[in-house]
Amino acid sequence: MERNPRERIRHPPGLRGRAIGLFYRNLSKRKRPKPETQAIRLGPCVSVPQTVLAKVEESLRKFEQSCEDEQVLKDFEAQFRHLLCADFEEFILSTKSSNYELMNNELQNQRYKSELLAKERDPDFQQRYEQRLKLPAMKQNERILEAIKANQVLLIVGSTGCGKTTQVPQLILDDYIFNNRGSQCHVVCTQPRRISAVTVAERVAYERLEKLGVSVGYQIRLESEMPRDSGSILYCTTGVLLQKLQSDPLMSAVSAVIIDEIHERGVETDLLLALFKFILPHRPELKVILMSATVSEHEFSAYFNNCCTINIEGTMFPVKVNYLEDIIQETGYTRFRNNPHEFARNKPRHQANQLDRQSAANFDYNAMIEPYLRHIRNQYDAQVLQALRCTDSEGCENLQFLEHLIFYICDTKPPGAILVFLPGYDKISKLNTILQNPTSPVGQRYSRKIQVYPLHSMMPTMFQKNVFQPPPPGMRKVILSTTVAETSVTIDDVVYVINSGRMKTNNYNVEANLQMLEETWVTKANTQQRKGRAGRVQPGICYNLFSRARERTMIDQIVPEILRCKLESTILNLKMLHVKDVHHFLSTLISPPDKQAIVNGINLLKRINALDVEGTLTPLGMHLARLPVDPQIGKMLVMSALFRCLDPISSVAAGLSFKSPFYVPLGKEKDVDRIRRHLSANQRSDHLMIDNVVLNYREALEDNCERDFCYNNFLSLGTLQQLEQMKKQFASLLRASSFTDSGHCSAKSSNENSRNIPLLRAIIAAGLYPNMAFLSKVRRTRNHVNAIHHLTTPEERRVNFHPCSVNSNEASFDSHYFVYFQKQKSSSLYLLDATMVFPMALIIFGDGVETGYTENKIFYISVGRTYFFKCDPGTAKVILELRKRLEWLMQKRALNPSPILPNSSEDYIVKAIQILLSLDDVYDYSDQYMSSDEEQN
Ligand code: CDP
Ligand code: MG
Repeated sequence: MERNPRERIRHPPGLRGRAIGLFYRNLSKRKRPKPETQAIRLGPCVSVPQTVLAKVEESLRKFEQSCEDEQVLKDFEAQFRHLLCADFEEFILSTKSSNYELMNNELQNQRYKSELLAKERDPDFQQRYEQRLKLPAMKQNERILEAIKANQVLLIVGSTGCGKTTQVPQLILDDYIFNNRGSQCHVVCTQPRRISAVTVAERVAYERLEKLGVSVGYQIRLESEMPRDSGSILYCTTGVLLQKLQSDPLMSAVSAVIIDEIHERGVETDLLLALFKFILPHRPELKVILMSATVSEHEFSAYFNNCCTINIEGTMFPVKVNYLEDIIQETGYTRFRNNPHEFARNKPRHQANQLDRQSAANFDYNAMIEPYLRHIRNQYDAQVLQALRCTDSEGCENLQFLEHLIFYICDTKPPGAILVFLPGYDKISKLNTILQNPTSPVGQRYSRKIQVYPLHSMMPTMFQKNVFQPPPPGMRKVILSTTVAETSVTIDDVVYVINSGRMKTNNYNVEANLQMLEETWVTKANTQQRKGRAGRVQPGICYNLFSRARERTMIDQIVPEILRCKLESTILNLKMLHVKDVHHFLSTLISPPDKQAIVNGINLLKRINALDVEGTLTPLGMHLARLPVDPQIGKMLVMSALFRCLDPISSVAAGLSFKSPFYVPLGKEKDVDRIRRHLSANQRSDHLMIDNVVLNYREALEDNCERDFCYNNFLSLGTLQQLEQMKKQFASLLRASSFTDSGHCSAKSSNENSRNIPLLRAIIAAGLYPNMAFLSKVRRTRNHVNAIHHLTTPEERRVNFHPCSVNSNEASFDSHYFVYFQKQKSSSLYLLDATMVFPMALIIFGDGVETGYTENKIFYISVGRTYFFKCDPGTAKVILELRKRLEWLMQKRALNPSPILPNSSEDYIVKAIQILLSLDDVYDYSDQYMSSDEEQN
């Protein structure tokens, strides 16, 4: 019914400004039709021709005859349930009876001691020891040892480089050895990053005049160099220690656990802290030592009942800190543009919307800066104050300002490398271009005398290695880096730090269940850390590109990761540790996550059958928890083992859980895109593209030209080797749980179906489900360079392929359905990776599959109550039968894993699925999109 425009509801009198807008917004929200009343939008028809259907039915009948051993499975299931019934505390108690003493062995005690005494006479050892003695941690060795002896829990706080990680474990070990108790000492020290576990172990072995694997070793996923069982130190990642706790919750063969870098607040570290709170009372003689940089240490000691804390004073060189106001005063740069007052006046009308947002930001900026300007007006020139009024003076909006500052340092300051902290690739790339082609005379004078190094995870590591070398004579190093140079990478000759104050962080929006990458202001802790990078070898200068007023608005420290990420993996991990009540356990963390985030995680795990309706771990869930990947990727791996297409799918899984093998040198973005597209072989899949990359790489390996291959295709050899390594690990884990009969991912028996592309798409869909998307329309732009996609997900009305996706500029697709792994909000909402799938794959492997009639009596089959496909009832009946069998088979295989052998009776279900999937290549779906029930009327 047409509404008379005169009848329009008007806002109540008395409302002003924003309130009026809000009134109408709420009104329109109320008026929006409810989704239930919307007409069903039918997708393409998936009816299967009668002759084909008959073949499928035939296969299903043959499969039916093989369902005999159900009783056996019931027993197995009962055992499995029993295993799960204990809660964490009960589980600890049940393992307590086992022997957890490190056995005293006199012979070993003597041997360890005489070894150490012999070393002390070695001049090399002495020299290295002298160096160690200079470290602040070593200056306090007596105090540290006393405190360890007197307390079960000890917190050691000291700034980066003071010797915590390398010295504390050695202090403990050597003390045991000298007291003739070496055989009773095994120290485990966790690191949040793989790289630091390895390099620290190497360093300590060097200090002890040993090779790795004697009294010092490391263990990280896929790699280990284990030390001897007793009289030793093991550096491992937090993930490895969590895994150890699954089988040995009391850490029976360990005398001291050191949890390092707890201030970084990674999820795994936070979990370990909570777990050890439970474990401590049950192992009175176990020492737990927490180590942290000087960030919020009180929070940690409070968490452990105000445990004993030792502060180690650092020996940093002094660093002079200049804030934005000082920098403008010193350099005289004032060419900023975004003066809020002028800005508002000059903006054209049609940009009103943008203007609104801008003026809100300007308003906030004014509110922050004006009181401060009044406060400092006697200390700075008027033009400095005027410049500070411009919103683009702070941060790195104005890259010309950064250019000016860098060349100013070159021109006026003594030698020393300049380290610039920027938020991401984009700014690094732009600033690099500017530095190569400077416009100012000073810039032109110095542009040939600087050597620029970008440091970003997407940049080739080759460049990253050079960054540690001294620059050629007469040259100055300029390093453009993300937060990676804050802690992970230490460059010794840095004297000047430019801190843009901006960084990108991953955040998790609980309501929208969405992971977001956002650029924000850094925390005070980041600023402190960045400043410290300038004073490693000599006094330095730090330039903060923000005012003291801005700094006051910054939060003290990084928001703990557990509050910023999805919780699926964490929950599954906890279930394996016999934590029954996840809600309760997570509420005991130092920063408990949001309840809704836990519910979202549990829901996803239920949807992929890793948890049952009551939230108990299923057999499949147990297998997924054992695989060191995200549960969805784990499911993809298990399916690929069952369906014998392990090699390609394990490549996909490795790529998704590690990183893309491509690197993107500055200025080569377009070339890399072209190569990605080429390697995707028109399969409309970022995932199958990774498989193609691995296959091509192997061919190159056989021809001994892998380096050329990598170089020509912007691929990182190191990453590819790592991916192969991960694939190996997946294969051996799947072998260990009997899903395959060979531990090699390219074994023939595991790859009978590996070139069956429709099946590969379906297995990818089976893993990534329920992450689906639908492309309702695609259009080429007038210049035919770009394609515009109208892409939706069940949750969002508008998403886009990420520009890095091989689908991003394609205009033709054989199917308009996609599955994806990662969705991320940055400048817009992007699917970072996507694979085109055909409707049949979603119908066979999705959940919530239903049938019914539309209002106009058209029969449909639907997936997840989201995508509806026209279908004849006969086809629907057979598909539903097939799904039932498949579910049964999956349950059976999860309880009693073994591969589905070719030509076995179970193989008939694989055959049935293959028959249905192969139709996708025959069907022409192209003209069937956009049809809706109404339109057909
Ligand atoms: O843990 P914390 O940051 O307190 O210091 P550390 O990692 O124990 O490092 C102490 C010193 O050992 C550093 O200042 C470096 O000189 C040296 N070190 C090294 O040369 N190579 C490593 N991989 C680690 C440390
Ligand atoms: Mg350390």
